[in-house]
Amino acid sequence: MDKRLLTCAELCKGRRIADIGTDHGYLPCYMVMEGLCDTALACDTAPLPLESAKAHIAENGLGDRVTAILSDGLEKVPADGLTDIVIAGMGGELIARILGDCGWLKSAVPAVNLVLQPMTKWDFLRKWLYENDFLITDEKPCISGRFVYSVMQAVYTGEKPPYPCDLRYLYCGFVKPVTEDGREYLLRQAKRLEAAAKGREASGDSEGALQMKTLAAELMLRVSTGE
Ligand SMILES: C[S@@+](CC[C@H](N)C(=O)[O-])C[C@H]1O[C@@H](n2cnc3c(N)ncnc32)[C@H](O)[C@@H]1O
Repeated sequence: MDKRLLTCAELCKGRRIADIGTDHGYLPCYMVMEGLCDTALACDTAPLPLESAKAHIAENGLGDRVTAILSDGLEKVPADGLTDIVIAGMGGELIARILGDCGWLKSAVPAVNLVLQPMTKWDFLRKWLYENDFLITDEKPCISGRFVYSVMQAVYTGEKPPYPCDLRYLYCGFVKPVTEDGREYLLRQAKRLEAAAKGREASGDSEGALQMKTLAAELMLRVSTGE
């Protein structure tokens, strides 16, 4: 298990998890073997990855506790007793589509803990979560190889989150510069903001460019002071 998936495991809370887009099934098998949950569902939309997950489940003798399910998103995933849903290693738009397509997610009692790790379009996902009344309850940055990711923990509340859906939220979420991973994440977001500001300037949006440059400078300062 790499650090990115370990970070996803850390943000799970409950006893029965569903890993959507499981590929080799590493996360659900690891969580059951480590006693981090009792049972798990290893779900994928493609038959080949699911076969690989089934093989990994069998190799580890976990057939009675990890179930492989062929499913597009949450379509065939039974809601009963599910405490956590992990969707990792996909684009933010696909993650949002999977959550939006699920008929039972918003009515689940108690609410399901969501652990979401977008590879791209993190801003799209954060906006979608905000607009659809999902609260981000925690966020953990994670350096993995050449990349830095943020793993979000979210829950449906049915109410608009008590924070603004502004540029800072879209770019940084709740990542703080208190770890090396957090500082690196914010540094990279600052660089992205500077690049995006140049694009805004070129298209004549000087106000948008200024907002981006101001946030980038603020992030650089936070990274250097660690506050
Ligand atoms: C890059 S892998 C990520 C594997 C693992 N979750 C991780 O983070 O390392 C993406 C997996 O998501 C699966 N996938 C893509 N779209 C999906 C969907 N709509 N529903 C379920 N699985 C999907 C793919 O088949 C693939 O196995």
